[in-house]
Amino acid sequence: MIVVEDVKKRFGKVVALDGVSLRIERGARVALVGTNGSGKTTLLRAMAGLLSIEGRIAIDGVDVARSPERALRSLAYVPQIAPPLEAPVLEVVRAHATLRGLAPSAVAARASRLGLDLPAIAKVRFRDLSGGMKQKLLAALALATDAKILVCDEPTANLDPVARDAFFEEIAARRADSVLVVCSHRVDEVRGLVDRVVDLRDGRVFTDLAVARAGRAGRAGRAKEIEPEPERGRGRAQERVSEWALEPCAPSRAS
Ligand SMILES: Nc1ncnc2c1ncn2[C@@H]1O[C@H](COP(=O)(O)OP(=O)(O)OP(=O)(O)O)[C@@H](O)[C@H]1O
Ligand SMILES: [Mg+2]
Repeated sequence: MIVVEDVKKRFGKVVALDGVSLRIERGARVALVGTNGSGKTTLLRAMAGLLSIEGRIAIDGVDVARSPERALRSLAYVPQIAPPLEAPVLEVVRAHATLRGLAPSAVAARASRLGLDLPAIAKVRFRDLSGGMKQKLLAALALATDAKILVCDEPTANLDPVARDAFFEEIAARRADSVLVVCSHRVDEVRGLVDRVVDLRDGRVFTDLAVARAGRAGRAGRAKEIEPEPERGRGRAQERVSEWALEPCAPSRAS
């Protein structure tokens, strides 16, 4: 469903992505992890069509760079950093709803489930919202689209615990054939949601592991072997598995 082929991105002298290739199939739930500056946000922004890149990203066979409107129709994106929008919340919601063919009430309903009272903040400038309120609104905008592919960049970093739980309930309730790509530093949180963990280092895929979902109760996850891999990859995978407190497993694809 999402094909990332040898994607490279430079910002001046900084190589943010250095040849990333991934295939993300229908129904996949993928965590993107890695240290600060490893290229996670750059990769997600590239998937969302927000960056020019070398290489190719296609969604359902449609090239994101060549036909962004068509390719991105089925994708919703929650950015790590909220844009500094001057417009009041109501206008932001209306503009998004028009672009995505939604009723503004659909956004209000999602916002309410995340604990955000949209009518109460309708006239507030988006940029004046608190960090957590912005994040709730951005999540509500994305969730309201019911897009087949949801790409979230540290979506709960600013949320209080109640809102965080509500967000994960919304994610868990998505259709089984939908795709989730979520970037997070909070391993325990995403372990209950994902069945694959891609670890970026220095703009490259360091390990790419299939894991059994841990469940929201925080049980230890169990990884499963999905294809044979070279010894070098196995060593890397074992290292990551111990970090994640998972049972021994094998990487799906090591770079
Ligand atoms: N717009 C930009 N202009 C210049 N450099 C950038 C830009 N965006 C990212 N970079 C650089 O690219 C590298 C990767 O950044 P990126 O934001 O993708 O990392 P990240 O893995 O998301 O990190 P974090 O965990 O801190 O969010 C970093 O060295 C960063 O400074
Ligand atoms: Mg980031």
